Amino acid sequence: MDAGDIGSIVVAVDGTSGSGKSSTCRAVAERLGLRYLDTGAMYRAVTWWMLQHDVDVHDAEAVAARAAEPRLESGTDPRRPTISLDGVDVSVEIRSDAVNGAVSPVSTVPAVRERLVALQREIIGAGGIVVEGRDIGSVVWPEAELKVFLTADAAARAARRAAEAGSSDVAATEASLLSRDRIDSGRAVAPLTRADGAVQVDSTDLTLDEVVDLVVGLATAPADAAP
Ligand code: DC
Repeated sequence: MDAGDIGSIVVAVDGTSGSGKSSTCRAVAERLGLRYLDTGAMYRAVTWWMLQHDVDVHDAEAVAARAAEPRLESGTDPRRPTISLDGVDVSVEIRSDAVNGAVSPVSTVPAVRERLVALQREIIGAGGIVVEGRDIGSVVWPEAELKVFLTADAAARAARRAAEAGSSDVAATEASLLSRDRIDSGRAVAPLTRADGAVQVDSTDLTLDEVVDLVVGLATAPADAAP
């Protein structure tokens, strides 16, 4: 990719929960002067809305029936990403245990995915953005100039997530991550998978800066040097 094209690049970063996607993507977007979109936050916000409206998140038909209602807005500044629901900021609420436990079943509902994928494509628009999720390189934007599949050992991911949340219960965090991985990878619609052409990066033994350097290097490398 030419340096002149970087402003319209789409970088798609998919991977398991806790593999470091958010920190990596935000830092890469800041370094390259790009926007940033956290699609997981969108699934989380819809889940929070369902919980607030007493929708049974395990009843796929009930979730589908109301999937068009939540009014979502995603702010794409990597220094201060925001997510609001019906005009109210829900950045804190979407990280609650209630949402952690309900987001995977809500994400399996095709009507939810169709709506959010359409919104994500609108936001990506003319590009110039780093997008993180599970199906960005495979479904949302398969034509992304750079696709990264970010992974890490479950124990490393749990330790990072627990530290972020200020929790000492690493075992419970690991169980929750593994449960989400199982549902995310096994679902019928848009399962978590390494997209065609995605570069796999295992962050287990890398620092955040090392992962960021690696992704920035891939994004700025000439196209014919890409793996
Ligand atoms: O990245 P995260 O942990 O915040 O994502 C929360 C959940 O959202 C995750 O368990 C699966 C779902 N998700 C999805 O199905 N597709 C995406 N593109 C992003 C997230």
